[in-house]
Amino acid sequence: MSEIKLPIEVGNFLLVKLDSAIGAVRGAGRLLLSKSTSKVIIESKGGKDIVTEMDRASERFIIDYIKARFPRDNFLGEELGEKTNGDGGRWIIDPIDGTENYVHNIPNYTISIGYEDPDGVLSLGVVFNPCQNELFYAVKDHGAFLNGKPIQVSQVQDPALAVSLISPPLLMQEKVSIYFRMMETIFLNTRDMRHFGSAALNLCYVACGRADAYYEFGVKYYDIAAGLVILTEAGGSYSAFLDSENLLKTGNIVATNKHLQNWYKKQICSVIGE
Ligand code: IPD
Ligand code: CA
Ligand code: CA
Repeated sequence: MSEIKLPIEVGNFLLVKLDSAIGAVRGAGRLLLSKSTSKVIIESKGGKDIVTEMDRASERFIIDYIKARFPRDNFLGEELGEKTNGDGGRWIIDPIDGTENYVHNIPNYTISIGYEDPDGVLSLGVVFNPCQNELFYAVKDHGAFLNGKPIQVSQVQDPALAVSLISPPLLMQEKVSIYFRMMETIFLNTRDMRHFGSAALNLCYVACGRADAYYEFGVKYYDIAAGLVILTEAGGSYSAFLDSENLLKTGNIVATNKHLQNWYKKQICSVIGE
């Protein structure tokens, strides 16, 4: 457990879960790095949505690893779906977040695991970038960490100084023009933008202050579960685009360093309400 840095009062129960989640992402990372991506078979899940045999292998590895330790826990994974085993908690898995980066050898993909306790409370998150050996993790109410060191969101309050992480709606063609209109409005009033290609990584980059905000249409729960815990524990905030929306239903997410949350929401709403 040497790499886990948390205040000592954290419940033993969650520390053991965290230790397992870290073991699982590190093992899955070794698996992904062990095979040349040029040999990986790429399939389409429909349209521009791709999957590889390694997405499934990574998810299988993670489930086997965790199930061996917690046989009554349940799983929701992107590739293998829902698996119900008993009265334990539920693990939310994205076995490769950023598959497009993975197949192009761009070192910006992650393995993302969130955990809901048996009461359904999202209580820990681990996001690992195996190419850069960056491990982000957080336990609810106990802070967020990158490679064992505490992380905090940026203190930027002036939108003119903000850097946004963007992700155009690859799988929602009907949202493309509105997304680019939002980008235009935000770009004209902020400093710069970046597109990294992993929703989990985007949330972690806002969490550790490398960027100030991130917004995207239609993310799935497994894209963001772990990252939401890490962002919140680092002092950030998130919401759906509109107050009337349920984030887990629409997946329209805006996440910031908290100071800029209202400003980004307002810009987005001004375009959506056009
Ligand atoms: C995708 C990535 C991408 C985001 C998409 C996700 P995948 O996940 O996180 O950055 O824009 O919304 O679906 O398909 O590589 O697991
Ligand atoms: Ca994903
Ligand atoms: Ca994925």
